Amino acid sequence: MLNSLKPMPPDPLLGVTEAFRADPSRDKVDLGVGVYRDASGITPIPRAVRAAEQKMLARQNTKAYVGPGGNRQFAAAMEKIALGASHPALRDGRVATLPSTGGTGALRLAAELIRLAGAGAAIKVSDPTWANHVPVMKGAGLETATYPYYDIAGGRVLAAQMLENLAGCAPGSVVLLHGSCHNPTGADPDPGHWAELADLMARRQLVPLVDMAYQGLGRGLDADAAGLRLLCERLPEVLVAVSCSKNFGLYRERVGAVMCVTESAATAAITMGHLQSLARRNYSMPPDHGEAIVAEIASDPALYADWQKELDDMRDRVNGLRKSLATALRSELGSGRFDFIEQQAGMFSMLGLSKAAVERLRSEHHVYTAPDSRLNVAGLSGKEIPAVARAIAAVSRD
Ligand SMILES: Cc1ncc(COP(=O)(O)O)c(C=O)c1O
Repeated sequence: MLNSLKPMPPDPLLGVTEAFRADPSRDKVDLGVGVYRDASGITPIPRAVRAAEQKMLARQNTKAYVGPGGNRQFAAAMEKIALGASHPALRDGRVATLPSTGGTGALRLAAELIRLAGAGAAIKVSDPTWANHVPVMKGAGLETATYPYYDIAGGRVLAAQMLENLAGCAPGSVVLLHGSCHNPTGADPDPGHWAELADLMARRQLVPLVDMAYQGLGRGLDADAAGLRLLCERLPEVLVAVSCSKNFGLYRERVGAVMCVTESAATAAITMGHLQSLARRNYSMPPDHGEAIVAEIASDPALYADWQKELDDMRDRVNGLRKSLATALRSELGSGRFDFIEQQAGMFSMLGLSKAAVERLRSEHHVYTAPDSRLNVAGLSGKEIPAVARAIAAVSRD
């Protein structure tokens, strides 16, 4: 049976990692990875996570199943972080939240729920979007289509084109939005644009699926959730996929949650039953280890404050690197062509370079970006910024 399988095509991003490893240059810089790194090149375990894990393990006396609903303290904490503690939907019991295997697991559960609920039209994703969005949606049996999102030459969101495109969607269509820190572009809608989007979605009866993978890494925990919260105010139904990979540094523990804001407590209960059933027929029950760590942090004011402080520091570091890189590029090129790097948010920006320029960056300057010229700003340690700016300037002059 398995002999009939054809080999998978190589993953373009893994190819970058392999090429980086094989490069003997001592000056090489890896800006292709999708994880946060500190100034010493490490993806750190936050202090609060270390402390909470120890506390949690010291208390835990069984590894028996938690139950089909997973860690409920964690679910409640995620609801508050994403929606805000005083969100009326929480008070009214209108939110169904199931812990998931990371943000990707949340997206997959959301996609399966959308399919189950019979949303007829293709799910709309931004052009461009995170490389795994379309495979996850298609893997759940959904069709996908794109809406225009990014002006690569201008480094800005194509707000008018996006709204015009979404205005043509059939009522009931699902639109996948990035809550903040858009991956791969780093360009987020501004508050006015979110408001227009919310109006349009209410008018056209569209359903948002908000992917919240970087909350706190762009402009702040609340600021990064402002668009999502606005949608929740204006629309009867909002689906959310949250991830604790980046903001809690829990990448390998696979911690996330799918959250459905519904019209009534009765619908939330039915939705919860379906989410649990979707998980049950796939892997039975949500994981707990990473979820329990987050729940421990959320229940301890000192740990929670320390987590927020470290997240603020991570964000400040990324924003500082953005500013330094944009400034260095401005002085190299004598133009503001890459000023957008400073204005954008989160770990990523797209340089808008040709494939040939991306290749030259690697072969001549040992600077590795993703094939689409996405760079992870958090991959910079800081001291190599002048050399990276010189390299980008050199390949972008031609
Ligand atoms: C936009 C976006 N969504 C979701 C995820 C999923 O994160 P995870 O499954 O690791 O929690 C990522 C991770 O890179 C991402 O960039």
